[in-house]
Amino acid sequence: MNLYEEMGGRDTFEQLVSHFYALVSVDPVLRPMYPDEDMKGAAERLLMFLEQYWGGPHTYSEQRGHPRLRMRHAPFSIGELERDVWLKHMKSAVDELEMKPELKEQLWDYLLMAANSMVNQPRGF
Ligand code: HEM
Repeated sequence: MNLYEEMGGRDTFEQLVSHFYALVSVDPVLRPMYPDEDMKGAAERLLMFLEQYWGGPHTYSEQRGHPRLRMRHAPFSIGELERDVWLKHMKSAVDELEMKPELKEQLWDYLLMAANSMVNQPRGF
């Protein structure tokens, strides 16, 4: 069993991403950053990316190429506020998952690190 399977496979990541986007879709800070009609598309892209990252199917790269996530986030203004709101919703979604505590911690540590690396606006702006 690889990490992806141990974490619960597709069901887990689907639950995580759908919970997260349900919160984002009504969030006053984040909602305006996402495409008007394409919340489903955005959710699908995050789902494919996370599945691939944790050892699941490589559909993300087949469809989107190399992730280059920092570059793909460059068009959006991501400061500490946006990062904190993103993390707040992701934390709620992670908390709801049924997963071994050590795996959950690993997942959360990664998301925290990744969210920090996506900040592209200096402090105080
Ligand atoms: C720090 C706060 C973050 C904000 C405000 C943010 C915002 C966004 C926005 C507005 C998009 C465009 C939606 C779309 O796909 O149409 C996007 C795309 C995406 N984000 Fe984030 N994001 C953040 C952090 C992260 C993190 C930490 C990850 C990964 C762990 C991530 C993974 C992705 C992926 C995979 C896409 C789709 C890229 C593509 O293939 O085009 N994001 N994000």
